[in-house]
Amino acid sequence: MSKLRSKILGVGYYVPPRVVTNDDLVKNYGIDTTDEWIQQRTGIKERHFVDAGVTNADLGVEASTRALAAAGVQKGEIDFILYATLSQDHEFPGTGCFFQAKMGMPGVPAMDIRNQCTGFLYGLSMADALIRTGQYKKILVIGAEMHSRGLELNTRGRDVSVLFGDGAGAAVVGLAPAGDESGILSVKLHADGNFAKELWLEAPGCSFHPTRMTHEMIDDGRIFPQMNGKAVFVNAVRRMPEVLAESLESAGKELSDIDLLVPHQANLRINEAVAKGLGLSEDKVFNTIQRFGNTTAATIPIGLSEAVAQGKLKPGMLVAMVAFGSGFTWGSALVRW
Ligand code: UT7
Repeated sequence: MSKLRSKILGVGYYVPPRVVTNDDLVKNYGIDTTDEWIQQRTGIKERHFVDAGVTNADLGVEASTRALAAAGVQKGEIDFILYATLSQDHEFPGTGCFFQAKMGMPGVPAMDIRNQCTGFLYGLSMADALIRTGQYKKILVIGAEMHSRGLELNTRGRDVSVLFGDGAGAAVVGLAPAGDESGILSVKLHADGNFAKELWLEAPGCSFHPTRMTHEMIDDGRIFPQMNGKAVFVNAVRRMPEVLAESLESAGKELSDIDLLVPHQANLRINEAVAKGLGLSEDKVFNTIQRFGNTTAATIPIGLSEAVAQGKLKPGMLVAMVAFGSGFTWGSALVRW
């Protein structure tokens, strides 16, 4: 492998303007829940939902436009698109293709990443490898989700539906200038498909015979995500510190070297438990779940963008990212900003 290093040149995010508070879930959707339950168990106060006419690709376009501006990169310079989402606009082709058309970037390869909450880190890892081999020069990595159209927004689905929100984040990844200390130092990824059904969306699916979709599947709620919340919680708290340690070791860094941790936003209690277990002080952990809920593949690029905007992530700082979610998949990254 060459000694070239890749770098995040700029980040940006977008959430749709409509704010849905916990009380709105009760009032507008009739869900038997309370603001108190949601805040106590998850930390979430509100999330954003799209209005009619907006697509997942639209969210990606808004976030990417901001990331390109922050990076000072023209869209014509982008030579690869990695689009992480689990809430695709259509079954196929991938949302990356719809995004690419909306961005006006015909001909640029566009690839979808199906790794749920870890999708952005899988994308970052691919971008890092493609840049360091010299095959591509500037890559857009997008994490975009439009959950509001795919959740069971009623009392039957309340254990899952109160958790998620819509939004997108994007990063422009390119070559770090020679002699520059900044860049992606390491990315570590894992998956264990033995746990695939602990957090999944079963149907429609081609594993069903003779047809991938039936009326019964709709009536039974099998077209909505199902989760074993406790299993996800326990495994997240175990796997996130583990994989963060792998990134640190690979980069020759210590936990105390980390200036800021931007973790996936599934549950504030998960992130507090991870920070506590690691002995990382709370002011070093950047959380956004209170305002956005869980935006799956978008949480980390949204967190990076917000941290930059708030002056909490500055050039020269060592930023760690860590994620865990459906698959199970999990991963971490260490970046000198
Ligand atoms: O991005 C990765 C994906 N997701 C995660 O990482 C989530 C991981 N898991 C979690 O965050 C937690 O397991 C949850 C927040 C989802 C649930 O918290 P919990 O403390 O594990 O609650 P629970 O599932 O044990 O439910 C406790 C009670 C149940 O009632 P009973 O059986 O004790 O009477 C539920 O029916 O809370 C009830 N409940 C609710 N009540 C009000 C479940 N959802 C709700 C709700 N509002 N939305």
